[in-house]
Amino acid sequence: MVADVAASVAVARPRIRIQGAVKSFSGRVVVDVENLVLGDRPIEGLIGPNGAGKTTLMRMVMHSTSLDRGTISFLPGDGSEVALSTLPAHRLAGLGVVKSNQVIMDFAELTVWDSLLLAVAESRYEQPHRIFSEGIVFEQHEAEIRQHLDYFGFTDPTLFAMSAGEKKLLDIVRCLLLKPRFLLLDEPTAGLPADLTEKVMAVIRDLAAGGTSVVVVEHDLNVIWNLCDEVLFMAEGSVILRGAPATIRENRTVVEKYLGEGHV
Ligand SMILES: Nc1ncnc2c1ncn2[C@@H]1O[C@H](COP(=O)(O)OP(=O)(O)OP(=O)(O)O)[C@@H](O)[C@H]1O
Ligand SMILES: [Mg+2]
Repeated sequence: MVADVAASVAVARPRIRIQGAVKSFSGRVVVDVENLVLGDRPIEGLIGPNGAGKTTLMRMVMHSTSLDRGTISFLPGDGSEVALSTLPAHRLAGLGVVKSNQVIMDFAELTVWDSLLLAVAESRYEQPHRIFSEGIVFEQHEAEIRQHLDYFGFTDPTLFAMSAGEKKLLDIVRCLLLKPRFLLLDEPTAGLPADLTEKVMAVIRDLAAGGTSVVVVEHDLNVIWNLCDEVLFMAEGSVILRGAPATIRENRTVVEKYLGEGHV
């Protein structure tokens, strides 16, 4: 019992530490983040106007966009710190650092089922397509994949994903299958109807309750106000304001200046 308590104290929430991270495109600075820790609270919302640098910052964490300078590291919560910028992509997924995509992945070549199977393989292999020849991996994940698909209402996984909404949901299921410890979601509910938005929010709450740190970028501020424990406001490449949702909402000067009236 004493040991259990000690263990729970020792393992803190997973965090990402960003230090002096700068990115320019064509000589224009689009991200300039001095010192930022993500994951202090279970669900953090990252908001800000179009072009603020939200997606670029998330891509820098995953190093799908390279940094001009600075460092980004993962703190799993056990006292260790891993520099993310030195790791290949499949090692990131192996650590549990996972990101959904704002621009929907192209699922056109694979059925719903095959695309998710490939997703499971993302964290295991440098050549994920090997999974198709490994029946055991398929069997291990079949029930889990089915459960997620049922939840989101996919009736026939042997079909190809058709609508933008379906592709968005599949991308979220892909993230869930990777067992994220730190999950970055870029506009997870964009274009989804209200019932599916609720389902996505419920999944995020469940993950956070289970110890995963979640950062959500979203333009639908109702999702942000209802879901997040903390909100970070990004403008012109930097986080200029952070606090509880109610505090950010009250700061009409900032929110209306950048997002326009009627958003709070
Ligand atoms: N690969 C790229 N090449 C050139 N410019 C880029 C590239 N990626 C992003 N940018 C620019 O960087 C700026 C920040 O873009 P980013 O996509 O990070 O913004 P965002 O906050 O996610 O916006 P939105 O809310 O519209 O998704 C924008 O001006 C964008 O045009
Ligand atoms: Mg974006």
